[in-house]
Amino acid sequence: MHKNKENKILESKLNKVSIALKQSIKNLDSYTHVRGESLYVDDINIRQGTFHGVVFDSPKAHGKIKSIDYSKAEALEGVERIFTYKDIPGKNEIGGIIADEPLFAEDEVHFWGMPIALIVAESEFIARKARGLIEINIEDLPVITTAKEAKAKGSFINAPRFFSLGDTEKAFQECEYVFEGETFSNGQEHLYIEAQGAYAEPLENGNIKITSSTQGPTSVQKTIAQVLGVAMHKIEVDVTRLGGGFGGKEDQATPWAVMAALATYHLSQSVKLILNRHDDLRMTGKRHPYESTYKIGLSKGLKILAYQTEFLQNSGAAADLSPAIAERTLFHATNSYYVPNVTTKVLSCKTNLPPNTAFRGFGGPQGMFVIESAIAKAAHEIGVSAKQIQEINLLDEDDTFSYGQIAEKVEAKNTWNSAKNIFSSDALEQEVAEFNRNNRSFKKGLSFMPITFGISFTNTPMNHARALVHIYLDGSIGISTAAVEMGQGVNTKMMQIAADVFSVSIEKIKIETTNTTRVANTSPSAASSTADLNGKATLMACNSLLERLKIVVSEDLDVSEEDNITLKEEVVFVNGQKSELSWTELISSAMIKRVALTENAHYATPEIHFDKTKEKGHPFAYHVYGTAITTVTIDCTRGTYEFDSVKIVHDYGKSMSEGIDLGQVEGALIQGIGWMTMEEIAYNEDGKLLSNALSTYKIPDIFSVPKTVEVIPVETEGNDMAILKSKAVGEPPLMYGIGAYFALQNAIKAFNPNYDLQFHAPMTPEKVLMSLYKN
Ligand code: MTE
Ligand code: HPA
Ligand code: MOS
Repeated sequence: MHKNKENKILESKLNKVSIALKQSIKNLDSYTHVRGESLYVDDINIRQGTFHGVVFDSPKAHGKIKSIDYSKAEALEGVERIFTYKDIPGKNEIGGIIADEPLFAEDEVHFWGMPIALIVAESEFIARKARGLIEINIEDLPVITTAKEAKAKGSFINAPRFFSLGDTEKAFQECEYVFEGETFSNGQEHLYIEAQGAYAEPLENGNIKITSSTQGPTSVQKTIAQVLGVAMHKIEVDVTRLGGGFGGKEDQATPWAVMAALATYHLSQSVKLILNRHDDLRMTGKRHPYESTYKIGLSKGLKILAYQTEFLQNSGAAADLSPAIAERTLFHATNSYYVPNVTTKVLSCKTNLPPNTAFRGFGGPQGMFVIESAIAKAAHEIGVSAKQIQEINLLDEDDTFSYGQIAEKVEAKNTWNSAKNIFSSDALEQEVAEFNRNNRSFKKGLSFMPITFGISFTNTPMNHARALVHIYLDGSIGISTAAVEMGQGVNTKMMQIAADVFSVSIEKIKIETTNTTRVANTSPSAASSTADLNGKATLMACNSLLERLKIVVSEDLDVSEEDNITLKEEVVFVNGQKSELSWTELISSAMIKRVALTENAHYATPEIHFDKTKEKGHPFAYHVYGTAITTVTIDCTRGTYEFDSVKIVHDYGKSMSEGIDLGQVEGALIQGIGWMTMEEIAYNEDGKLLSNALSTYKIPDIFSVPKTVEVIPVETEGNDMAILKSKAVGEPPLMYGIGAYFALQNAIKAFNPNYDLQFHAPMTPEKVLMSLYKN
């Protein structure tokens, strides 16, 4: 009874939402989220007799396996079976880009937490208990934990990559100022609320269905097929939604799904495998730590004439997505600035950490941190503000990026100047200066952080998507795409597109689960491109259906196809006049006329290309721009700090869902601030993760959120390559968080005149305290 009442309230809310459709729509998932009704892997009703899996992983970062004794574990009551590499019927190989990663270790282990076996038991509790009974003997091999050590030992994932523009050597000779330095940015734990997991079920004829918490259902399908040695059509992967991915489930959701499928393959029984938080933290990779060196050269007038870097990416023990991430570091190495002479190099260094992986920004933030450090260093040495250097060098229309793309519809200066004007930055700077003059034990710092982020998968062939749209005979609509809902609101955006084309209310539209049998051969939901790619395909499919329906209208109402036939709020209009024909009648009529009410469309981003042999091309459909102004106050007695405000002018294009997009900017900003200021991944020299729980790994909480976060959309035309001109928003705003680092540096400088800037993120309160009193 109660439920009914609640549902009525929900329905009336949904109605309101659909009226307010276009701009101010909320993420429609929030209703099921707050009611606890959203379904994650762990919420699936499991079949009777389902087994539960726990992974046995390496207790050493590098070594030779001398012996493993499973006998006590196997003897434990309730343990069904323990699977190792020996049980793999196909290939023991899960590497996505490079085939260098086994599912289970064979005779060597390469990182602490590397999977060795899967224990399958009647309950997770029993499986976990069995894990404690396994005895393993490993002969130690030397452990590499840092990129620098790996470089010194020649330990790499692949060949280095270089981008270059102009003549850097020559340009440095013409510079008035040249500065060199080193930077470090640490990794970052994704900490998606829903840990990695999958549920596998046997179907008929040896087919298997897997429900996986993955951003990339096709990778999961392909890898399971490869490991089991079966064809892809035998494997169905379904994704309801993710409790967050942030890149951590682009590639690294796969092993757990493969393990569950492997056990199901052998046992012909359902198997559920969900990592607990400790296991997830230990076994999965994170954002890549980078150790980098830079050299920056400026003219007397502060123009950056030359920039050179070497990025050392700590890739971990296998390639995973590291090569693609390294590439994006190069794409974003000059951030929002035009630099005529650039030489950038990146080395993916093989270490004995878990393979590091995609994380919001995908190597871009690491690249941008270095040029912002170089600019801060130059400003400090020359005795000007970083802002002056930043401002003079902002990208302009028709400037060339180091990778050959010509900058078009550039909003770098527009967002910068708008931020200055809208937020009265001069007054803000004066306030900070005055505060610093009047206070000894508290100091404020301010920074500007412009961002420029390229939208598209950097790997051109990945930029495609399909949509399958059904109009059911009652006029309701079901949409399947490759888009995975992970909290970013993509399902709502897909609904909006269909609602917009057909002018039907949101309640008539359902976004189906992401399933490989309905939409095949998909790219992962990533690169901030999910809404663009899947949205464009959805738009195409809906438009084709609409064209077909217009023919039905012309027959039914006896009007010419040339007449202007439109749909408005579920009624057909002809030449602006309301007709008798409703949406549902139109669909019934189309059914009777045997018109196809299903459409499948394929979209591939036009114009983009990139030639890796030359490292030149036009890899991005467009760029997203913005500028953030950050102010912080440090308590100079304690080293603690609070962000007073982050004021942002952001380029949404023409946002199709302002509420969702604002949520993305705010979330990304806080995640960026966390990375830059407090989240400190620590491994000991043996390669053991020390920050292995939330007691030792600090992420931003409500108290770390800046007191004010203001986001103003810059008025732009949008971009035709963006869905409904609404630009991609998932990753770019993370890089506003880099401003937090430099605001802190400026506050420290205000307190300690001897302070020599440090570029070693995160800038934790401990580090701030030491810096305040360092001579
Ligand atoms: N927002 C939420 N709430 N949860 C997430 O996991 N992932 C981010 C971003 N925003 C993420 C998120 C990352 S890494 C990407 S690439 C994009 O969303 C993916 O979604 P999009 O392509 O639809 O922007
Ligand atoms: N971004 C995110 N994921 C990716 C990319 C990218 O550019 N390329 C391959 N996977
Ligand atoms: Mo996002 S790092 O491209 O999943």
